[in-house]
Amino acid sequence: MSVDARQEQQELICRVTGDAPMGQMMRRYWLPALLSEEIADPDGKPVRVRILGDNLVAFRASDGKLGLVEEACPHRLASLALGRNEEGGLRCIYHGWKFGVDGSCLDMPTEPEGYNFRARVSIRSYPVREAGGVVWTYLGPPELVPPFPAYDWTKVPRDHVAIVKFLENANYLQMVEGAIDSAHTRFLHRGTLDPNEEATRNQLTRDLAPKLACADTCYGFRYVAIRKPNENADKLKTVKMTRYVFPSTAITSRPIERGNPPLLQIFVPVDDEHTMHYSIWHSLTGMPIDERRQREFYGMRPGIDLDEYWRPRANMSNWYQQDREEMKRGSWTGIASLMIQDAACQETMGPITDHTKEKLGTSDVAIIHLRRRLLESIRRFIAGAPPIGLATTYDHAELTHIEQIPIGIEERWEDVQTFSGEYDELEPAGAMKR
Ligand code: FES
Ligand SMILES: [Fe+2]
Repeated sequence: MSVDARQEQQELICRVTGDAPMGQMMRRYWLPALLSEEIADPDGKPVRVRILGDNLVAFRASDGKLGLVEEACPHRLASLALGRNEEGGLRCIYHGWKFGVDGSCLDMPTEPEGYNFRARVSIRSYPVREAGGVVWTYLGPPELVPPFPAYDWTKVPRDHVAIVKFLENANYLQMVEGAIDSAHTRFLHRGTLDPNEEATRNQLTRDLAPKLACADTCYGFRYVAIRKPNENADKLKTVKMTRYVFPSTAITSRPIERGNPPLLQIFVPVDDEHTMHYSIWHSLTGMPIDERRQREFYGMRPGIDLDEYWRPRANMSNWYQQDREEMKRGSWTGIASLMIQDAACQETMGPITDHTKEKLGTSDVAIIHLRRRLLESIRRFIAGAPPIGLATTYDHAELTHIEQIPIGIEERWEDVQTFSGEYDELEPAGAMKR
């Protein structure tokens, strides 16, 4: 493929702002806008939210209802994030125009009553839904709202879910690719893997060049990395499954024997060069999960490791606080937080990395497949068909039921029940119809 063609493809799958097809396509899915904890109090501080290049403001009104509206006041475009959140609406501090959660103008004190200008002014508002500690929104055409992605973690009590959130300074695709890239873990993260995941470490350290196999699914695709474990290498192999769910979610399995929840990561584009990262775990034991511990372990405590805009204090400006002395003492990266290790690699690739300069190898099969699948979906979307994952209904809850398990050396992973299931069928040809 020519360099020009590759560049064109890259533009298509990376650009998400304005009229870019990828951004328009992403608007067709429910996306996380912010965490409920950011906006817990009625009449509390409004929160600025930027998604797909749009500047919005979220606020919780006096009755507890949430509003997500355009940030610019329709009068003369001052920020409504400066506004007073009071008595059932958000009031612009400049001239006092006031808006409800549905975007209607509730008060316009600078205009004469009889003129009725108020009835002709409104502000754009978007649907919101709170589930799993996340405020979700849908930014697409109102007549095309898809079913809500009802993952199992969105249905359990809030203290059964742990969420790590932070801002990354690069294109969303670099984050998604990092999340599905099973080859980097044993290099980049060696030494900082979660202690709960000793099994991963022990089983996977030896085989550094796993065999990968991808299969398309109605929600995106799944792939398995098959490795020979340290012990019993002649009898067993370990199968680790990873799922990619449109438009920008990765689900990674954990070793089964620990009852570990899978890691679900959603990467919401802020704009072309910034991404909000959400890493989510939920309890499989019926007991609460320690979110504080999780945030501390990953070096992502709000107000301590992160500033008020979710920006990590270890960032490119201080070279990710990489400690060369620590490296001499045995640390692989010299970077303390596992998530900053990822961010450091993904941000230093450039705000939008240049695909034409990459040398992709056999370990990059899943990344090549992801790009192909994204292009396929965008082409469908441009042709007027629904993008992948919206044409068929599937059970989001099922998607997190994946495990990392050892199987017999002769066994076919496709035949193991954990890795099969009707939600994994290849998308039927007729599914493109709306
Ligand atoms: S700019 Fe908001 S009321 Fe004038
Ligand atoms: Fe990583």
